[in-house]
Amino acid sequence: MKVFRYKKELENHLKELKKQGKTIGFVPTMGALHQGHLALVKNALKDNDITVVSIFVNPTQFDNPDDLEKYPRTFETDLTLLEDLSPDIIVFYPDAQDFYDGNIVSQTFDFDGLEQEMEGKHRPGHFDGVGTVVKKLFEIVQPDKAYFGEKDFQQLQIIKKLVEKEQMPIEIIPIPIYREEDGLAMSSRNRRLTKHHRAAALFIYQVLKQSRVLFKKESIDTVKNFVKDAIGAHPYLELEYFEIADEKTLKPVTQKISGNKYRGFIVVYAGEIRLIDNISLVES
Ligand code: PAJ
Repeated sequence: MKVFRYKKELENHLKELKKQGKTIGFVPTMGALHQGHLALVKNALKDNDITVVSIFVNPTQFDNPDDLEKYPRTFETDLTLLEDLSPDIIVFYPDAQDFYDGNIVSQTFDFDGLEQEMEGKHRPGHFDGVGTVVKKLFEIVQPDKAYFGEKDFQQLQIIKKLVEKEQMPIEIIPIPIYREEDGLAMSSRNRRLTKHHRAAALFIYQVLKQSRVLFKKESIDTVKNFVKDAIGAHPYLELEYFEIADEKTLKPVTQKISGNKYRGFIVVYAGEIRLIDNISLVES
């Protein structure tokens, strides 16, 4: 399996493959790979001649230094997991200094307000960091298709906006949330949960599923209060936010308008670990 650390070397390698008319699929990740990431990679392998996976714990998108420091890094295991899917996968494992030309800072973006809701409010600067790293990665890899998980639904919408605004000819492919058997959305951070918090965390998806049932008949306020109370009553979980928002604009809604698509977005702390999830809400 080919692993590149320097952007020029990867660019040169991909240039040759593009000359041969090969299509390129791209999966950006921060590593500590799990089945959720691998679902994205499998789709890329299926749709494209060449698949590139990047593994980079991008410093500019972390608003919390402790989270950056403790973010799991399991590069050797990641490589084995990818190799098992296909030895032809190209891995980009950037050197941060080379990647950022020695200047590790974010560019500022205007994503037409998408960046101001939910994660944008609670993690200042986060989406500037994500926009900066993904734009640079796209410029280096120049993929035909790039794969993003619905687990980070706001990120997915922001990346769609990024390629639209920057006029990059890249198709963004959304992939559904991949869950553990008990319903917890897979995340690299899950491995940092204590036993008690891991057991408690399955409650998040249970509450989300109940909110979907309630949403069919009840008002937005009733659904929001239900989630607040349910998570609030759990001894091992702490709600950061639950928002019901329009899928397209990500603006929180107070009333349902028929024909619009809504999603429930949740962030919960299980001990020190910040867990994010969402669910599609449909009216009856
Ligand atoms: P990371 O958290 O490693 O996630 C990489 C990709 O995998 C994202 O598109 C994410 O939505 C997707 N993913 C993670 N868990 C998933 C799950 N359980 N089901 C489906 N997809 C899942 O998101 C990032 O990294 C970074 O912000 C990045 C885009 C790489 C920029 O640094």
